[in-house]
Amino acid sequence: MTNESDLNNLGKFITLEGSEGVGKSTSLNFVKELVESKGHKVIVTREPGGTPLAEDLRATLLSNRKEKIESDAELLMMFAARAQHVNQLIKPALESGTWVICDRFVDASYAYQGGGRGIPFERIKFLEEWTLGQFKPDLTVLLDMSVKEGMERTRQRGAPDRFEVEKIEFFERIREAYLQRAAAEPHRIHIVDAAPSIEEVQRSLRALVQEHC
Ligand code: TMP
Repeated sequence: MTNESDLNNLGKFITLEGSEGVGKSTSLNFVKELVESKGHKVIVTREPGGTPLAEDLRATLLSNRKEKIESDAELLMMFAARAQHVNQLIKPALESGTWVICDRFVDASYAYQGGGRGIPFERIKFLEEWTLGQFKPDLTVLLDMSVKEGMERTRQRGAPDRFEVEKIEFFERIREAYLQRAAAEPHRIHIVDAAPSIEEVQRSLRALVQEHC
C-alpha cells in the first residue's frame, strides 16, 4: 500500500499538447528549467517515442510512405508505443521521485486519431483504460492558437512529416478535439493562449506550474 509520505516523494507528470506551430519545444524547455530551479530532478520525453522501441514506432508513424496507414493501425501503434513508454520510462521515473515532462501524451490520440482521423472517442477511451488504467498526467498544458497562424509558423521548418502534410481541415478538427478534452477535464487540462509574446506565454506557464505542482 502507498502511504502519504510515499506519495509526497513521487515525481509529477506534466504533459504539453497543441496543434502544429504552437511553440511546444520552447515551452517544454521553459517548464523543464522552472521545475529544475525548484530543485527537482527532471526528464523530458516525447510521444510517440521515449524508449528505443517506441522511437522505432515513431519513425514508422511519421515517415511518408506509399502504403496508406489505416487509422486504426495508426491509433494502435500510438498506444503500443505509449504502453512501452509508460511502463519502462515514465512510471519508474515518477516512482523514483523524478519529474517527467512529456511532449504530447494520450490527449494527442483523442485529438489526432479521434478529431483528425474520425475514430470515435469511446474506442480511444477503451485503449486508454486498457493500457493506462487510471494513470493520468498531474498537469496538461494545452497551447492553443488559430490553426492558420500555427501553420504559418511551421512554414520555415524542413520537409513535412506524414501528419504535417495534412490539410488545414484536419488541424481544425484536431484543435476542436483538444478544446473538447480541455472542457471535459478542466482540473487537469489548462489552455494557454499561445499567440501572444513568449514572455506572456511563459508567465502563464509559470503560474500553472506553481498552482498545480
Ligand atoms: P511532434 O513531436 O512534432 O509533435 O510529432 C508527433 C506527431 O505525432 C504529431 O503530428 C502528432 C502525432 N501524434 C498523434 O497523431 N497521436 C498521438 O497519440 C501522439 C502522441 C502524436
